[in-house]
Amino acid sequence: MEIRVEQGDITQQDSDLIIVNLFEGVTSPGGATGAVDAALDGAISQVIADGGCRGKANEMMLIHTLGKLPAPRVLVAGMGKQEEFDVDKVRALAANAARYARRQRCERVATITHGAGIAGLDSHDCAQAIAEGTLMGLYTFNRHKTPNDDDVEVQELIVTEYDAARIDALERGVARGTVLGEAANFARDLANEPGNVVTPTELAARAQTMAGAAGLECEVFDRPWMEEQSMGSLLSVANGSAQPPKFIVLRYKGGGSSHLALVGKGITFDTGGISIKPAAGMQEMKGDMSGGAAVIAAMRAIATLKPEIDVTAVVPATENMPGGRATKPGDVVTAMNGKSIEVINTDAEGRLILADGLSYVQSAIDGGPTAMVDVATLTGAISIALGDVAMGAMTNDAQLYGRLRAAASAAGEKVWELPMFEEYKEQIKSDVADMKNVGGRNAGSITAAFFLKEFVDDVPWVHIDMAGVDFYEKVKGVSVKGASGIPVRTLVHLAFMLANEPLAG
Ligand code: BES
Ligand code: ZN
Ligand code: ZN
Repeated sequence: MEIRVEQGDITQQDSDLIIVNLFEGVTSPGGATGAVDAALDGAISQVIADGGCRGKANEMMLIHTLGKLPAPRVLVAGMGKQEEFDVDKVRALAANAARYARRQRCERVATITHGAGIAGLDSHDCAQAIAEGTLMGLYTFNRHKTPNDDDVEVQELIVTEYDAARIDALERGVARGTVLGEAANFARDLANEPGNVVTPTELAARAQTMAGAAGLECEVFDRPWMEEQSMGSLLSVANGSAQPPKFIVLRYKGGGSSHLALVGKGITFDTGGISIKPAAGMQEMKGDMSGGAAVIAAMRAIATLKPEIDVTAVVPATENMPGGRATKPGDVVTAMNGKSIEVINTDAEGRLILADGLSYVQSAIDGGPTAMVDVATLTGAISIALGDVAMGAMTNDAQLYGRLRAAASAAGEKVWELPMFEEYKEQIKSDVADMKNVGGRNAGSITAAFFLKEFVDDVPWVHIDMAGVDFYEKVKGVSVKGASGIPVRTLVHLAFMLANEPLAG
């Protein structure tokens, strides 16, 4: 679909639907909603007076214009309490309104810029949020279904603004929001694909195709290269699978003095290996490459938006299968940095592949990265701690974490820090190797982070555990059923923050 900005009077738009809005408690609407109300001879105020529309958050009221306006229908979207309104609410409202428009079978939709009127929010940020919310809210994953001829998709959203002085900011906002929304949807496409479609080979191919289109450098390495690099930890996971593992490297050169390294977990299916998972729910493990997908998708947006910073992303990609050559509990393997690992549980495979991903990216960057972030669906324990509301983060650097938190907040994604108290490290001590790959049930997400820390040199680093937020069961705001696309937008905002050009205003 296309989102564009047009200068003009919303009452004159001849689209299938025009969207205006209303704060809770307003009885006589002003601004664009007021103009539409006047053109409808007070129909909106009348419905409000009759109690049919109260402006509650995401309450939708449809009015048929019966020839009084060029557009046949008007949607009055409730914005809730004015004092609680912010850019996150604009994004969610745009998503809900867009889905409403689709249910109404509208192909061409015009909207005002929610939040930029009496709410007094920044026009650029609101336009960005409308583009993100619309694209993410309308996302569907239908490619394996027979098309239904009856389905109508919203083809066009026209952000209509009367004030010519605002057009430039709105256009920049829509352009940026489109890039971010499409990147999140790209990550969703990768994560929603079943394991037999997105194998390590296919993940690498899709990264390569994206890189070609976006102007990024991309290299994909095979098993012999991993052997040369002594990636014994990654290979120990790949050994049980008939699918060849791939090591994906993407490079963006934006200049500047910082170099951000991103590492994404690319397990295209996690059976657990010899420590096999129970059958119930195992299909969800097709999404165990969500961290890798997020990193690849963030690189696409970074390549388009061009922050002044270098960014290198790596995704070790493999299946975790219980084959005849699979790693067995008790096996000892050696990672690229020379440290030995006792594999107690083959289902704790994410940390094993990330170990070599982290070691490699640090050695591959001249002078090393100035900041490093890994993203992984690493532990079930993070859902126990934070549910499906926030991703977990663990760090060795309070300043970098502060920036990540600010980036997440700007993106409207939630992150919460778990402590890395030295005492937890005890739990991954091994009797036979430098460490073991599991630390027991207690503080499972934190002991996983301590394991990863063994592969982090003296570099500011944040580990993001997104196992609780990778997939959603319900439609809510920008999230739809299926892969969430988290934390693509956070990572892009972070790249801009580290380049000292925060993406706001
Ligand atoms: N991929 C899983 C974690 C996961 C769980 C992701 C639920 C998404 C939803 C990971 O590889 C795993 O199996 N972790 C184990 C670690 C344990 C064996 C220490 C877990 O969390 O149970
Ligand atoms: Zn696992
Ligand atoms: Zn896993």
